[in-house]
Amino acid sequence: MASVPGQRVAVIGGGGNVGASTAFALIAKGIPVEVLIVDVSEKAALGQALDISDASFMMPGTCRQATFKEAGQADVIVVTAGARQMPDEPRSNLIDRNYAIIKSIMDSLQPIKSTAKILMVSNPVDVLTHIAQTTSGLPREQVLGSGTYLDSGRLCNALSDITGVSPTSIHAYMLGEHGDNQFTGWSAARIGGRPLLDHPKLQGVDLESINKKIAHKAYDIIDAKGSTYFGIGMCAATIAEALLNNTSQVFPLVHYVESFGCYMSWPGAIGSDGVEQSFDVKLDASENEKLYVAIKAIKEACAKYT
Ligand SMILES: NC(=O)c1ccc[n+]([C@@H]2O[C@H](COP(=O)([O-])OP(=O)(O)OC[C@H]3O[C@@H](n4cnc5c(N)ncnc54)[C@H](O)[C@@H]3O)[C@@H](O)[C@H]2O)c1
Repeated sequence: MASVPGQRVAVIGGGGNVGASTAFALIAKGIPVEVLIVDVSEKAALGQALDISDASFMMPGTCRQATFKEAGQADVIVVTAGARQMPDEPRSNLIDRNYAIIKSIMDSLQPIKSTAKILMVSNPVDVLTHIAQTTSGLPREQVLGSGTYLDSGRLCNALSDITGVSPTSIHAYMLGEHGDNQFTGWSAARIGGRPLLDHPKLQGVDLESINKKIAHKAYDIIDAKGSTYFGIGMCAATIAEALLNNTSQVFPLVHYVESFGCYMSWPGAIGSDGVEQSFDVKLDASENEKLYVAIKAIKEACAKYT
């Protein structure tokens, strides 16, 4: 039998679609990690772990079902457990259902390894990251959420179609909230060292229609196939990889932003200590208005759960 890798990523809710996609992406990316699948439905966890382990025989990673206690000792704990959106349901509607689930998960994981990083994916991810931090007892910088990384990827894909430049060479972020109050930081976006909006192929393009398309894409996918999971699974695995490998890469993630006094989706550099740096993004007046709407919505929601 092949040896088991030293680093571990636990996926809580791994019996479901997003968790299984995250676990599969960790293996398929070739990360040398032991993936632990945990779910309140032990049968679902077992099924996903057995299936994903079939995909691991030519890869350095391994996958198996595990308990909450084992997951508490993982290096990265990804949380995808919880209720998901119904067609046309805003993410913010999920909060009461998912608050109880997240609190019980943090209790079941105790004692949590002091160096573990918790990556929240369950929605509404900005508020649930705050709740995970307060209920886990880990320091703020070790608790983060996938935030607008997926939305920013959708934005860069759309901009790539227009400009003909690779999405990975476009530095543009959806900001504020992974939800209906997200907005595009157009004025801070860059391509090839130049302001993005100066690109010749963007002249005369209706930016608002791009914004709407990005913000609505999850609803379109849910309407067509019931839920979204491949895109977010790849995003969560990529964030976990950066934490494990201490890469200090910058992602638009949910983390605690001191200057705004709350957890929110904002660019931060991450490594083995969690969130290492948060950036002071310069926005124009209309973007700042949208930012404060998002912050107000997140703070009001978090206030009920402190
Ligand atoms: N952040 C993002 O960009 C993003 C994208 C897509 C989905 N999501 C969110 O991810 C979450 C999961 O979505 P899904 O489609 O995988 O749903 P799903 O119903 O397929 O899976 C959820 C899993 O959570 C498990 N679960 C419920 N309570 C649990 C508990 N107390 N402990 C352990 N496991 C528990 C369920 O048994 C189920 O297997 C939802 O909140 C959804 O909104 C987030």
